[in-house]
Amino acid sequence: MNTVTVTASGTYDVLIGHGILPELGGHIKTLLPPTQKIAVVTDETVAALYAKPVLATLTNAGLTPHIYTLTPGETSKNSTVYLSLLNRLAEDGFTRADCIVALGGGVVGDLAGFTAATFLRGIPYIQVPTTLLAMVDSSVGGKTAIDLPHGKNLAGAFYQPTLVLIDTDTLDTLPQEIFQDGMAEVIKYGMLNSPRLLDQLLNDNITQELPTIITTCVSIKRDVVEQDEFDTGRRMLLNLGHTVGHAIEKLSNYTIPHGQAVAIGMTIDTRAAVAKHLCPPDCLHMLDNLLDRYSLPNRTDYSAEAIFQAAQGDKKRRGGDISIVTPRSLGHSELMQIPVEDLLHWIKLGVSS
Ligand code: NAD
Ligand code: GLY
Repeated sequence: MNTVTVTASGTYDVLIGHGILPELGGHIKTLLPPTQKIAVVTDETVAALYAKPVLATLTNAGLTPHIYTLTPGETSKNSTVYLSLLNRLAEDGFTRADCIVALGGGVVGDLAGFTAATFLRGIPYIQVPTTLLAMVDSSVGGKTAIDLPHGKNLAGAFYQPTLVLIDTDTLDTLPQEIFQDGMAEVIKYGMLNSPRLLDQLLNDNITQELPTIITTCVSIKRDVVEQDEFDTGRRMLLNLGHTVGHAIEKLSNYTIPHGQAVAIGMTIDTRAAVAKHLCPPDCLHMLDNLLDRYSLPNRTDYSAEAIFQAAQGDKKRRGGDISIVTPRSLGHSELMQIPVEDLLHWIKLGVSS
């Protein structure tokens, strides 16, 4: 088992290994000694696969689990489901000594995390991510949120978990296309800060190496979060490919999955960086080869103008400037501020060159 320790407004371990789910109850007993009640927030698909072992480890540790099961998918990450979770916790008599376990993908993690951040002004929560995306990204770093009718993640809080437990065996049941979606985020970490990871992803049989690869990604995220927990600067690096990616998701009415949109976004940013001589062409060749290997797209039919319009509400916009993340060499990217009106030219370079 690998351990990555994150020191932010709380310090916590991210445990990564095969078959470690049965250890969950014991960790909770050690970390939160007065805890009795555990609210396991999950979705129907994940519950059918993993509720039984999770409930078993909790009861074996002398804890009292309550299971709250949601409809799978982004549509559950809303204010109605959030309020119903708060009400369930209140009805079931949860106190600040009790704890929430988020068992599932990023939807469950973001929603359960925001519920934990706000119930009684904050109760502990533990992330048990079961998608690749949630393992390498959403379960670590304390961003919690729900969606509003105006857009994704518009209400939320920075609230760090007490523990993240990643059992890589849960990936065995993940449908291939959802796994591939997570691979876009894994490739992103290589592009950001690890030529070695890029090489490993291109040449190795990653099935054998998933715990190591996930550990590398979590360590890169840890380093960024420790420097900028509240997303005022450096943390925006984690958004490589996301300004364009989010715009493409929005244009497609969320029918293009996040990972595919980010893959296209990373390609557009890298092509633009190469066209502007900010990075050598080998970055683009590497990215193209990796996206091909993991069956991710590198082109879109949307015009640069449409992408630019859809990117107007981006959270990385500050006044007249927007932060974009630019690959500068193989396995190294940097933040760059550009005037919002230059973004259209940037996207045009990325779409057409
Ligand atoms: P998801 O949570 O909807 O999970 C995708 C699907 O996989 C669901 O249908 C789920 O039931 C199923 N599933 C989950 N684990 C499974 C398993 N082991 N076996 C079989 N099926 C399984 O989607 P996601 O891609 O994990 O997360 C997307 C969400 O994460 C978005 O809401 C996004 O905004 C959020 N996010 C948050 C952060 C953050 O820092 N907080 C970062 C990135 C993304
Ligand atoms: N997923 C981006 C972040 O955590 O900042």
